[in-house]
Amino acid sequence: MKATFFTAGLVGLTAALPQASIQESSSIVAQTSTTSIASLQDVPQATSLAQAAAVNVTLAVEVPAEVLDTTSLKSNSPAILTTNPTESEEYLSLADFLAPDLSMDDIPAVSVSKRDLSALFGHSVSRGPFVNFLKVQKVIVFWTCPEWIHPVPNTFPGWRNYKSNGVNLGGWHVLEKNIQPSFFNDNAPSAIDEDSFCETLGLAKCGALLEERYKTYITEKDIDNFASYGINTLRIPIGYWAYMPAIAGDHYYTGGQKLAMQKIARYAIAKHNMHVVVDLHGLPGGQNGLDNQGKTGQLTWWNNQTAFDLSLEMVRKATDDILAQPHSGSYTISLINEPLPALYFFGQTKDSIAYLNKYYAAALKEVRQRSKTLPVAIADGFIGPQTWDPYWTNVDDHLVIDTHLYFFVGGSYSYDAAYGACYLAKSYQNASNPTFIGEWSIQATNFNHLGDNTRRDFYRSQLQAYSQYLQGGMFWNGKHDGDTVVGDDGSAQKYYWSWEILASEGIVPRPGDKLESLC
Ligand SMILES: *[C@@H]1O[C@H](CO)[C@@H](O)[C@H](O)[C@H]1NC(C)=O
Ligand SMILES: *[C@@H]1O[C@H](CO)[C@@H](O)[C@H](O)[C@H]1NC(C)=O
Ligand SMILES: *[C@@H]1O[C@H](CO)[C@@H](O)[C@H](O)[C@H]1NC(C)=O
Repeated sequence: MKATFFTAGLVGLTAALPQASIQESSSIVAQTSTTSIASLQDVPQATSLAQAAAVNVTLAVEVPAEVLDTTSLKSNSPAILTTNPTESEEYLSLADFLAPDLSMDDIPAVSVSKRDLSALFGHSVSRGPFVNFLKVQKVIVFWTCPEWIHPVPNTFPGWRNYKSNGVNLGGWHVLEKNIQPSFFNDNAPSAIDEDSFCETLGLAKCGALLEERYKTYITEKDIDNFASYGINTLRIPIGYWAYMPAIAGDHYYTGGQKLAMQKIARYAIAKHNMHVVVDLHGLPGGQNGLDNQGKTGQLTWWNNQTAFDLSLEMVRKATDDILAQPHSGSYTISLINEPLPALYFFGQTKDSIAYLNKYYAAALKEVRQRSKTLPVAIADGFIGPQTWDPYWTNVDDHLVIDTHLYFFVGGSYSYDAAYGACYLAKSYQNASNPTFIGEWSIQATNFNHLGDNTRRDFYRSQLQAYSQYLQGGMFWNGKHDGDTVVGDDGSAQKYYWSWEILASEGIVPRPGDKLESLC
């Protein structure tokens, strides 16, 4: 891999600096000079985002010996980054981002836009065990999008030897209003999820609409389109009610969803050598309380023996269904999606980890009684793959961790969220089980917009990082028609969540494409 630098403007700051916005750029200067880490010269006032983006600022950087390995830097080199030098795990060296054949001497003169500067201050990456992650400005890695492995049916090499360039078929068998608002608005505008959709319409009417949609929402043409971009993996969310009737109090329709999924999976495998992750997305009782499990607010899966037993029944049926497929060696079964014992992130406790482990062990046993080799995915519950090492190291050769990385919460900026993704991908690579990023998207918290290359860079950087350091991942989502405004330019959600749209816009690379990654 050849790395080179476009611009490298790096400022070391203390973690205590407050959030700063573009409009506060003159106070940024003042704050910066008080850090004694960097001094900025001639920073003109910008009054708009566009103006700020157009202004390059020359940095005269003084490198404090105590925060840098000065032996790797030329005097006044543009390289500094640290957030809080006393916390070594937050310290990143620019050298981490250098290919072995490059030295710090290769870094050209520093030039950094004022907009970038504002992001350096008080910046925190969306989630993870660290805060105030600072970025390396525009360290660009030229990367050739690989010819992804497309194992012929029944020859999956195992997750340790596989890199997934995947998409999710979310919102197909577990409806999500944000993914296809028109389906709700046309039929049951007050409904907020699949359960209330069918409750509102009644099962007969709901069933008829859903049966039609199973056949038309995802078609073989979609799969062909995915394949033409080198997509080699599909993750297909499905609810417990595909395998058994709805539990009393739930209003789900049980019909042709399983057959529709199998038909598409068979086609993707036979025609395009894809791998299919059957993702048990909605468990009996509800494991995360979110709409994506089918019923918003329901959270009775935890510590509930009835729900536990029904979940194992679901796992048995889903496993038997996979094993009955002509190419059963081209599947992974995923035991649960985004388990959250409370309606807030990072809410896990020791008890909930123990409960998930109990479920994982029991479900894995059910799968293994049927197949010694069917890969089984367990969710990390947003607490990092390594958290599960104490329980799952050397337990099963075909176990894989499914973790999700989203940056639309947590304070990231569109043009540097990629650095957070890179950091996390690297930090996950030493987990004892292989890891894939089962869901990712390109909406940041701040400055989402369509007018520059931030979406392209964020997409491609994540693709590269997850493939290089982990076992790849699956973009969320194959289709997305969300019209909620999320951009500071008024742009809609779908421009950050629809693989289909991103592909049509040239943001999704094709195999063999040379691309730039910020990782
Ligand atoms: C800012 O720097 C970049 C990289 O060197 C350069 O391409 C761009 O033209 C500069 N912009 C301005 C307004 O000087
Ligand atoms: C336990 O789960 C079952 C099945 O989902 C559900 O019917 C029941 O209400 C749950 N019990 C409690 C106490 O939440
Ligand atoms: C992770 O693994 C890589 C490659 O084996 C190794 O170079 C690195 O030191 C490890 N990092 C940690 C934090 O263990």
